[in-house]
Amino acid sequence: MDNRRSFIKKSSLSLAALTLPTAGITACASAIPAEPFAPRKPEKALVFWYSQTGNTARTGKVIARELERRGLMVDSGEYREIDRDSVGRYDFVVAGSPVYYYDVPENFQTWLGTLPDIKDIPVASYVTFGGEGGNFHNTACTLLERLHARGGIPVGWNAFGNMSAFAPTWSYGNVKRVLKFKHKPDQESFAAMRKFASTILTRVQAGQSVDVDRECNFREMIKSKPSIWGTKLLIDRHTIDKDRCVGCGTCLEKCPVGAIDLNAYQVDRDRCLLCMGCVNNCPAGAVDMVFMGKKVYGYYEFLKRNNITVADPV
Ligand SMILES: Cc1cc2nc3c(=O)[nH]c(=O)nc-3n(C[C@H](O)[C@H](O)[C@H](O)COP(=O)(O)O)c2cc1C
Repeated sequence: MDNRRSFIKKSSLSLAALTLPTAGITACASAIPAEPFAPRKPEKALVFWYSQTGNTARTGKVIARELERRGLMVDSGEYREIDRDSVGRYDFVVAGSPVYYYDVPENFQTWLGTLPDIKDIPVASYVTFGGEGGNFHNTACTLLERLHARGGIPVGWNAFGNMSAFAPTWSYGNVKRVLKFKHKPDQESFAAMRKFASTILTRVQAGQSVDVDRECNFREMIKSKPSIWGTKLLIDRHTIDKDRCVGCGTCLEKCPVGAIDLNAYQVDRDRCLLCMGCVNNCPAGAVDMVFMGKKVYGYYEFLKRNNITVADPV
């Protein structure tokens, strides 16, 4: 174990040495200045998100409902259910993402890059995250940058904290750390989501865009690929347990990169983005993952074992 730890430490240090100089530059160099635009009265909005364990979906639904309450016609749903060619037909677009490995997950970023031209459409972003210091600010900026690259005009962003769904944390024994946030989301969070919806709508009506300004920080330098790569080093096993599997296909549906072969009960570990979608959602606990010698168990099992009911907005 000591050898393995020192290998990981050495690898991480060399990787950091390789990535820090370039990452440091890109991390601080992406400010998009606010530009006023013609005030307008939006009629049709789209709210879409990526969500594996429901937090980002729940937030998106609260925002959509609030925009509806304020008179807009709103379509909403998970990005994989959205007809991407329709995105340019809305007056206002809101996108939501969980923070995974300090950034917007790669599968979602790739999809955003394939959106049609949304020139002159006001856009807003929100993220859900599982802990302080998790780089939520920059993740919301990444979302806005992707939408701006397609022509959207940034009108706001926000971040909503809740209990983390990163299964290795509790499986390895850091249960207390996760339980610290077991009360989130609460009614206060839902009120903040509604307020955010109302603020971004007001900005659209007033023709006010916002700066998109990243923060320079260490997380920004190790985000996504290096962080996933480091976590993969700590995962000893990631397959499907043939005897437990009930063949429901939930893992296939959840995996955003087609890394699971249910006929062979195998996971393609190179392709896998380590989103935990399979282990967190399998209803039979059949995803066999071992992290630092401990069997990983999923989000719903964690809720059950700790008697947690996730709050719904009233
Ligand atoms: C694979 C994975 C990586 C995560 N990485 C981060 C992170 O870097 N920073 C953070 O604040 N939260 C992190 N989290 C917590 C999630 O952002 C949080 O649980 C989020 O609300 C999940 O959204 P969802 O339920 O819509 O999938 C991570 C969770 C998972 C499953």
